[in-house]
Amino acid sequence: MENVPRTNKGFPVEAFERQRTPFYYYDLDILHGTLAELNRCMARLPWPCTMHYAVKANANPRLLAEIAGHGLGADLVSGGEIQAAIHAGFKPALMAYSGVGKADWEIRLGLECGVGCFNVESVPELEVISALAAEMGCTAPVAIRVNPDIDAHTHRYITTGTAQSKFGIPIEQLPQVVDLALTLPHVHLSGLHFHIGSQIIDLQPYEMLCDTINALLDHYESRGIHFETINVGGGLGIDYSDPDCHAMPDFEHYFGTFAHLRLRDGQQLHFELGRAVVGACGSLISRVLYVKHSRDKQFVILDAGMTDLIRPALYEAHHLIQNLTAVDGASQAYDVVGPVCESSDVFAHDCPLPVTRRGDLIALRSAGAYGESMASSYNQRSLPGSYFA
Ligand code: LLP
Repeated sequence: MENVPRTNKGFPVEAFERQRTPFYYYDLDILHGTLAELNRCMARLPWPCTMHYAVKANANPRLLAEIAGHGLGADLVSGGEIQAAIHAGFKPALMAYSGVGKADWEIRLGLECGVGCFNVESVPELEVISALAAEMGCTAPVAIRVNPDIDAHTHRYITTGTAQSKFGIPIEQLPQVVDLALTLPHVHLSGLHFHIGSQIIDLQPYEMLCDTINALLDHYESRGIHFETINVGGGLGIDYSDPDCHAMPDFEHYFGTFAHLRLRDGQQLHFELGRAVVGACGSLISRVLYVKHSRDKQFVILDAGMTDLIRPALYEAHHLIQNLTAVDGASQAYDVVGPVCESSDVFAHDCPLPVTRRGDLIALRSAGAYGESMASSYNQRSLPGSYFA
């Protein structure tokens, strides 16, 4: 049976006992350590670099304020995220606004706030941004999101850089779109943007991305076109199976891979990591409601469900599960499930846990990214709270 760490070390279990479950627990030491390591490794690249934290991964106001405080910018995909980022103290010049479907009010909000860049995903969007900027008497800084047709070898729901995906402008259409952007009077073409997928562990697709970008830079240089920024998106994966041994994402190799780029003088490199920034610092803390013995199975029924953490139901994602109350005794295999009326409301099948009882506290680890931000109130359930230490 898989070896699950039998410890509640590092968790303020006594304080948890006083909290209403389920809630997200964020370890700020882990977050600060991650941000410091990220800044340290990024600073080794020979070009001016900016990390735009992908707010979609977790928009908890306290986390956003910590991340803004470490000098990061923000990658945003909705008007709501723009408002949250402004509120948290991110500088508008360090904001990039992405997304395939920006509504007019959201584009106006981005222009009013002075976001540093609109990452544009289609010709009609480029035309609408130009028209709205003209109406408002301003110029919109834009980067064109290129779909480089690179397979990131990750879950099909979070692969974004292949020709089949809805994201970005197909690379073969880039010449016409660049020409159009250069002729529109109310847009300023500042760069190129890429994002090939999420939870990427094998870094080879990033090497392919570097080759693609180098070829594009050579081509546009020969045409006398200079881009101020190259944005390589996000996607660096984290270790969901062993969060204690690998709490830190492999920033060293990740940033090292981009040393293969051949950026020109004055060009800036932008990144948009989300999961790697906040994934490890968060756990979903829940209480066991019942242990149910069926004919072939033993179920641990939690008070947290897919409404609190949808990743297992949506992507068959694996989060390490630990019993924080019972840490001794032989392992039993349990199916760990939530209370929601859906068969997919299962966190794990045959999960090894010590003998588990009603009232035990359970941690679902590595839930800092795409956990709280994807929570819903399906079944009229309350949204999970948060607790920091
Ligand atoms: N930039 C763009 C344009 C993106 O679409 C995304 C994520 C990111 C950056 C940040 O990617 P990250 O560094 O976090 O991998 N809900 C899924 C993940 C969806 C990712 C969507 N886009 C999950 O729970 O695995």
